[in-house]
Amino acid sequence: MSRCLRFGLFLLILLFWGSLMAQDYVGSQTCKTCHSAIYDTFIKTGHPHKITKIDGAPPVFPEGTSPGVPNPPSDMTWDSISYVIGGFGWKARFMDKEGYILTGDSIRQYNLANPDLGLEAGWTGYDASEAPRKPYTCGSCHTTGWVATGEAGPHQDDLPGIYGTWAEPGVTCEGCHGPSSDHASNPTSVKPSKEENCSSCHIRGDVNQIDVSKGLIKHHEQYEELLASPHKSFTCGTCHEPHLSTIYDLGGYKGDENTCQVCHSKVEIKVTEMADLECHTCHMPKASKSAVKISIDYKGGSVLKGDLHTHIFRINPDTTWKLITDDGKFVRVDDDGKAYVTLDFTCLTCHTDETMTWAASNVEAIHGTGTAIPSTAVVPKKFELEQNYPNPFNPTTTIGFALPKASQVKLRIYSITGQLVSELLNQKMPAGKHSIKISGEGLSSGVYIYTLQTENFTASKKMILTK
Ligand code: HEC
Ligand code: HEC
Ligand code: HEC
Ligand code: HEC
Ligand code: HEC
Ligand code: HEC
Ligand code: HEC
Ligand code: HEC
Repeated sequence: MSRCLRFGLFLLILLFWGSLMAQDYVGSQTCKTCHSAIYDTFIKTGHPHKITKIDGAPPVFPEGTSPGVPNPPSDMTWDSISYVIGGFGWKARFMDKEGYILTGDSIRQYNLANPDLGLEAGWTGYDASEAPRKPYTCGSCHTTGWVATGEAGPHQDDLPGIYGTWAEPGVTCEGCHGPSSDHASNPTSVKPSKEENCSSCHIRGDVNQIDVSKGLIKHHEQYEELLASPHKSFTCGTCHEPHLSTIYDLGGYKGDENTCQVCHSKVEIKVTEMADLECHTCHMPKASKSAVKISIDYKGGSVLKGDLHTHIFRINPDTTWKLITDDGKFVRVDDDGKAYVTLDFTCLTCHTDETMTWAASNVEAIHGTGTAIPSTAVVPKKFELEQNYPNPFNPTTTIGFALPKASQVKLRIYSITGQLVSELLNQKMPAGKHSIKISGEGLSSGVYIYTLQTENFTASKKMILTK
């Protein structure tokens, strides 16, 4: 780069930084004047309704979304409530006239009806350890432009229970795009940030641990879950449209545009009775909880079902694996930091007449063997054939390989004497990391050689089948 160009860039960065620093919050009503189409869909998501000011009447949400919260706690009237927290997707909590959150053993949290779990709307307690009330310190994830202040204030609306101030209640446009006054007055020359910062709120505590409470994953940990999943290099936006609701099925899960099958195009559900199940029904079971859960008995045990999809995706067919660590505090991960959902969550919430052993024996039937896993996410630097795992194996194992560019791939298994046993792949494959699961059923115990061959690369490795 020429020195002049570099200096120019430096100046540009300075200018850009300067304009960012100078910006103020202008509020979503201003954004609406120019971006009305985005605003109209966005207002039907949970984000802007995270906290709602109460004026003697219950909060009202846009048509086609949340049924809302019809009544205040039975020892209160709407006149004694200043704000409702949530009440859009899962549950609502209430703030008194001084801005404190009501706490106690009962009638403090209102859980919305959950048809999937067969539960009606109802009341429960909230954080009885802090009864009868506690300060509102939740604004960093629930408001836009939150400044935490503490007991001494200043306090939003001069309510002493709110330990901070906000520019706008709820997660509104500038909650994600940052303060944008300069953009609003000069849209073509100043652009707001489009950086995805979902992880600043959909997270809890230590990012390397997925916290668990009473048998289910705690809520707002989608980021930690994603990191322990095979999709750890994805952004949330790979699957989510940020301005559309996912929970009210308004297109926020990219669905047709980017379903699981867009990448996993070769995966089919081979059990015809289950062919119309969504991929996420099995791969993202409701192993996480925000408000409510139920316990489901199956033959030989029971399993909990919560109200949030886990973002772990991997299913462990091993019946001795547990989702949760022995102390009950975290999701269990293997040596590579991978987490897995187990077959009780995946199969036995529906197949209640069956056992874990039954589920394990039917795992292979679902997609069959030989499902190649694609990779569009990370393009490897060089060709590579990985050691199969597990090894030795019986009867299934997985072979991984990496392609730095799209290639015609032959993957074959040979006996130790050089006879061709099976051709696993003979096709054009995209660049990326791939793996293929194979079954040694029908083969005898012994050492086999597997070989990857492309136009410019060949490699072989040994694997051992022990029956
Ligand atoms: C006066 C009209 C106006 C207002 C008010 C306005 N915008 Fe924009 N915005 C635009 C226009 C026009 C563009 C397209 C600019 C371009 O591509 O040159 C744009 C583009 C954007 C982009 C995309 C930037 C990019 O890099 O592609 C974002 C994000 C955005 N606006 C967010 C906001 C937010 C948040 C607010 C409210 C704080 C807001 N806008 C208020 C007119 C406006
Ligand atoms: C400033 C904090 C914050 C940020 C940033 C944030 N979220 Fe949220 N999100 C929340 C809160 C709080 C809720 C609960 C709101 C509700 O539903 O009442 C929520 C709810 C959701 C929901 C369920 C509600 C619905 O209507 O579908 C989805 C999906 C979601 N967020 C996805 C995302 C994605 C994707 C991003 C990044 C593009 C993101 N969030 C960024 C705080 C945040
Ligand atoms: C939950 C976080 C979040 C909220 C809240 C949010 N946005 Fe966005 N928005 C994003 C992200 C992330 C992108 C970038 C998407 C991409 O690059 O594909 C984006 C993109 C945009 C764009 C560029 C064009 C487009 O559709 O991709 C505009 C304009 C925009 N947002 C305006 C708004 C306005 C106006 C609001 C409020 C009514 C708003 N956004 C609220 C996260 C958010
Ligand atoms: C680190 C960010 C974060 C903090 C801090 C946080 N929340 Fe949340 N909260 C979320 C997210 C994200 C969701 C929605 C997604 C989920 O539950 O997995 C949510 C959901 C909720 C909901 C359900 C909303 C609905 O419409 O159903 C309530 C109620 C709630 N939070 C209350 C609180 C209270 C009260 C506090 C403070 C004591 C708090 N939260 C602190 C991120 C946070
Ligand atoms: C009925 C439950 C169920 C449904 C529905 C389902 N899967 Fe699976 N899937 C499984 C099980 C069980 C495994 C095997 C886990 C193992 O053996 O490691 C699996 C494995 C996978 C694998 C790993 C590759 C392999 O062969 O080991 C991928 C990728 C996958 N599924 C994607 C999908 C996609 C995409 C869909 C939607 C078209 C889908 N699944 C629907 C249960 C399901
Ligand atoms: C590989 C795709 C994928 C990725 C990546 C992904 N999600 Fe999701 N997410 C889904 C699907 C599928 C659903 C369920 C959609 C439905 O119920 O229709 C979902 C649902 C949700 C919900 C609603 C609560 C629930 O359980 O239904 C929230 C909140 C959410 N995701 C947040 C996030 C956040 C934050 C990220 C990034 C850290 C993320 N997701 C990344 C696929 C994904
Ligand atoms: C959302 C509910 C649901 C989930 C989750 C589910 N199934 Fe099914 N499955 C069904 C239904 C409905 C049928 C139709 C036959 C029936 O009623 O048993 C079926 C049929 C089957 C059949 C063929 C009929 C039989 O009973 O032999 C097998 C095998 C099977 N499922 C295995 C599994 C396995 C293994 C899992 C977990 C990886 C799983 N299913 C997860 C609902 C589900
Ligand atoms: C943008 C492309 C993309 C989308 C969308 C996508 N996946 Fe994946 N998935 C991948 C890639 C790439 C891998 C392999 C990651 C690795 O191990 O390097 C993978 C791995 C997996 C695995 C683990 C396989 C194993 O045994 O290691 C499962 C299970 C899976 N995906 C299920 C799903 C489901 C279910 C969805 C939809 C909710 C989905 N995927 C959406 C690209 C995608």
